[in-house]
Amino acid sequence: MADAADLSAWSAVDGYIADSLLDADPALEAALARNAAEGLPAIDVSPAQGRFLQVLAGLIGARRILEVGTLGGYSGICLARALPPDGRLISLEIDPRHAGVARANIAHAGLGDRVEVRLGPALQSLAAMERDVEGPFDLVFIDADKPNNAAYFAQALRLARPGAAILIDNVIRGGRVLESHGRDANVRGARAAFAAVAEASGCLATALQMVGVKGWDGLIIVQAR
Ligand SMILES: C[S@@+](CC[C@H](N)C(=O)[O-])C[C@H]1O[C@@H](n2cnc3c(N)ncnc32)[C@H](O)[C@@H]1O
Repeated sequence: MADAADLSAWSAVDGYIADSLLDADPALEAALARNAAEGLPAIDVSPAQGRFLQVLAGLIGARRILEVGTLGGYSGICLARALPPDGRLISLEIDPRHAGVARANIAHAGLGDRVEVRLGPALQSLAAMERDVEGPFDLVFIDADKPNNAAYFAQALRLARPGAAILIDNVIRGGRVLESHGRDANVRGARAAFAAVAEASGCLATALQMVGVKGWDGLIIVQAR
């Protein structure tokens, strides 16, 4: 398993990636500063991962994006930057304080016209979206409470267009995803996500391990049926 020396090396390389490929980003830096000032946990995606989300959304020409788990809006800002002016990102968040901070960060980033932060438990919000026939979405980013990963994936699949990208974050968990009989609810949620994706007929999927300033983790990426 990884130790402090690994994290220091991965962080240094993330620094190199940022210095080489990511411009100074006042809006994202302000978002992180506001998150910290408001006491939000620093569990947003890293700058390199945020750029990955933006590039991916741009590559597939996403016009409608769904995010499950907003926090302070860091990943949402990255995703929304890939949208055309008439595109839309709906981001689901259970915590009113997180949602409020996210709305302020998103407005400060100049993206308030195309992003909606929707407050409530995501299982309920997603069920309401299905009922109201919202979507279809071109990209879904699942990054909320990990025990509900499989349920979120099933709902995302119903809300996504054929061929859409569905990403499920934090499924490697420092290698603990290998713990087949562990009690950790987040590890079990990661394994449930792998099982649900494997059982979803017609989907094409893989998982990518990622290391960096946030440690050792990774995501499942699915091409929806
Ligand atoms: C890992 S953070 C999201 C980070 C964000 N995607 C980013 O990278 O900037 C997870 C968020 O999901 C929210 N969350 C947890 N349980 C939830 C639920 N049942 N429904 C909706 N949101 C939930 C948490 O309050 C937290 O803000």
